[in-house]
Amino acid sequence: MTNATPATPIAEHPRMTVVGTGYLGATHAICMAALGFEVLGLDVDEAKVAALSAGDVPFFEPGLPEKLREALDSGRLHFSTDFDEAARFGDVHFVCVGTPQQPGSHAADLRFVESAFRELAIRIDRKALLVGKSTVPIGTAARLASEIQEISPAGDALELAWNPEFLREGFAVEDTLHPNRLVFGVTTAWAEEQLSAAFRPILDADTPLIVSDLATAELVKVAANSFLATKISYINAMAEVCEATGADVTLLADALGLDDRIGSSFLKPGLGFGGGCLPKDIRAFSHRAAELGVGQAVAFLDEVDAINIRRRVRTVDLVRELAGGSLAGVRVAALGAAFKPNSDDVRDAPALDVARMLYLEGASVNVYDPEATENAHRVYPDLDYAGSLVDAVTGADVVALLTEWQEFREASPEQLGDLVAGRRVVDGRHALDADRYRAAGWEYRALGLPTVHEQVAAP
Ligand SMILES: NC(=O)c1ccc[n+]([C@@H]2O[C@H](COP(=O)([O-])OP(=O)(O)OC[C@H]3O[C@@H](n4cnc5c(N)ncnc54)[C@H](O)[C@@H]3O)[C@@H](O)[C@H]2O)c1
Repeated sequence: MTNATPATPIAEHPRMTVVGTGYLGATHAICMAALGFEVLGLDVDEAKVAALSAGDVPFFEPGLPEKLREALDSGRLHFSTDFDEAARFGDVHFVCVGTPQQPGSHAADLRFVESAFRELAIRIDRKALLVGKSTVPIGTAARLASEIQEISPAGDALELAWNPEFLREGFAVEDTLHPNRLVFGVTTAWAEEQLSAAFRPILDADTPLIVSDLATAELVKVAANSFLATKISYINAMAEVCEATGADVTLLADALGLDDRIGSSFLKPGLGFGGGCLPKDIRAFSHRAAELGVGQAVAFLDEVDAINIRRRVRTVDLVRELAGGSLAGVRVAALGAAFKPNSDDVRDAPALDVARMLYLEGASVNVYDPEATENAHRVYPDLDYAGSLVDAVTGADVVALLTEWQEFREASPEQLGDLVAGRRVVDGRHALDADRYRAAGWEYRALGLPTVHEQVAAP
C-alpha cells in the first residue's frame, strides 16, 4: 500500500482470535496455531466449541484432526464462546462467520458478519485490527470500517482489513499453510504491516501477496469463484450440445484442455458445482452488481447458474431413461451426497439434489456417502441411507454415481454387478471406466456422451 513506516507500532507476533470456527475458521485457527501463533477460536455454537476444545473437528477435513491435536497440545490454541475474552486477547481478530444466501433472495445474508464485527468492536478498547475473511458483497468492508470505529471504545485505533480466503475443502490444511496467493485489502500502512506480521511465516515462504483497497479484495474472491463456476458451466453447456449431436464431451474437454490458453482444470463435464460457496457467491455477486448498476456486466452468471441446475435435472432424466421411462418404485443407489469428494459438506450439493428429485418422482433412493451421510440425513431425513457401498447397491435397479469419491472409482464393476438387480449405471461425474463397466455387462450412461452412434441431422 505504502512504504512509509506506520506511526503506531505493530504487534510483531500478534495474538489472534478467529471468530466463527466452521470449515474456514476452524482451519484458519488451527493452522495459525500450527505456525506458532497464540490463537483463540470463538464461536456462538457451544457444541462446536466443546468439540474443538476436546480435540474433535466437527466436520470432515483430511489432516485437520491431527493438526488440531498438535495445536491443543502445544498450548497455543484455545476455544471459547466469550466475546469479552476474545476482545481482551487479540491483537488481530479474523472474522470467519458464514455469509449464506438470504431466504427468498439471491443476496448474501450479512447478519452473522455484522453481529461478529459489532460484538468485537463494542468490547475492544485498544489498538487492534479486525480482519474479514468471510466472502461478502463489494462495499461491505468499507461500511463496516466506519461502523466499528463509531461504536468501539477504541475509536479510530480499531482498524479493519479484508483478507479473502481461497481454501478448497478437502485440501484446506495445505491451502491455508501454503496458499497460492494472499490478498490484503487495507486502507493504512499500519493495517498492512500488522496483517503482514500475522502472515509472516507464509510470506517468508515467498507466497505472492497482492495489497489492494478494500473493494478490490472483496471483488477478488467473488470474481475468482465466478470464473471457476463459468468454466464448469461452459463445458457443461458444451455437454448439452453434445447430447443434441452425438458428440462426446469428454473427448471435447480433453481436446480443449490441451490448449494451454484454456487449460484442463475445472473443465470437467458432469453434474456441476455446488457447496457452501460457488452457488451462493455467484448469486450474491449478480445481485450486488445489479444494485451497483452494473448488473449487465455479470448477467452471464445467471446463465452459468441455470446451466448448472439443468445438469441436475438431466441426470434425473438419464436415471429415468435407464429405468425404462418411469421412476415409480425404481430402486436407485445414489452414490455420494457431499458436494465433492473428501468433504462432508452437503450445502447445495448436486448429489443430494438429484437424490431428492429421484425420490420425489417415486424412486426408492438409497444414499451412500463415505463421510456425509450424517449431514445428508439431517437435511433430507426422508431418503434411505446405507452404511456401505455394498448395502447401497444391493438390489438396486439403477446405480447413480453423484460424487466422485475414490471408493466409487475403485469399485469393481464385476463385484457390484453381482449385487445389483439390474446392471445399469449413470455416471454423473465421468468418474468410472465406461469400457470396463460395459465389458462387465452394464448399461452405462453419462452426461454429454452419445448413447448410440447417432448422426446429427444435416443442417
Ligand atoms: N468453506 C469454505 O471452503 C470457504 C472457503 C472460502 C471462503 N469461505 C467463506 O467463509 C465464510 C464461512 O464459511 P464456512 O464454510 O466456514 O461456514 P460455516 O457455516 O462452516 O461456519 C460459520 C461459523 O460461524 C459461526 N457463527 C455465526 N455467527 C457467529 C457470530 N456472530 N459469532 C461467532 N461465530 C458465529 C457459526 O456458528 C459457524 O460455526 C463464508 O463467507 C464463506 O463464503 C468458505
